[in-house]
Amino acid sequence: MVCRYCQRIIISLLPLVVSPLAAAEGFVPWQAVGDSIPQPLGGLTGDASRGREIARRKDLGNCLACHRLPIPEAGFQGTVGPPLDGIASRLNAGQIRLRVADESRRIPTTVMPPFHKDPTTLNQVADDYYGKPVLNAQQLEDVVAYLMTLQ
Ligand code: HEC
Repeated sequence: MVCRYCQRIIISLLPLVVSPLAAAEGFVPWQAVGDSIPQPLGGLTGDASRGREIARRKDLGNCLACHRLPIPEAGFQGTVGPPLDGIASRLNAGQIRLRVADESRRIPTTVMPPFHKDPTTLNQVADDYYGKPVLNAQQLEDVVAYLMTLQ
C-alpha cells in the first residue's frame, strides 16, 4: 500500500521517465509559432549525417522522390518540390522543422506528406504508419540538422 502523498509524487515524476522514451519512438506534440516550430521536438538534438541517410532512403524520408538534394550517389532526384540545396540560407531551423513536420499548415493543398503530425488526426494512413508519425521526433530532428548544413 503506497500512501496517497507518495502516489502523487510517483505520478508526477512518471512523465520524466516516460517522455524521453516516447520522444524517441512516437509522436511528440509541437507548437507552431507563425511559420515555424522554434523548439526542437522533445528537446532532442539532431544528427546531420543520420538526417542525410533518412532523407535519401526510400523507406524513410524519401525526400528525393520530390526534391533535389546534394546527394550525388542517389540516382533519381525529383522536381515536384523545390530543390533543397541552399535551403538553410533561405530558412531557419524552426521554419524547416514546421515544413517537414506538416507543410499543410502553411499550404493546405500541398502534396508534401506530413512527416510528424499527430497520427490520431490523420486519415488514409497506410498500415505500416498506423498510429505513428512517418518520422519519429529524433528522425525529424536529424533531417532538420541535415538541411541546416545546406547553406
Ligand atoms: C510527394 C512529394 C514530396 C516529398 C516526398 C517531400 N516533399 Fe518537401 N515539398 C514538396 C513540395 C511540392 C513543396 C513545396 C510546397 C508546396 O508548394 O506544396 C515542398 C516543400 C518543402 C520545403 C520548403 C521549401 C521551401 O523552399 O520553402 C522543405 C524544407 C521540404 N519540402 C523538405 C522535405 C524533406 C526534408 C522531405 C523528406 C523528409 C520532403 N520534403 C519530402 C513535396 C515533397
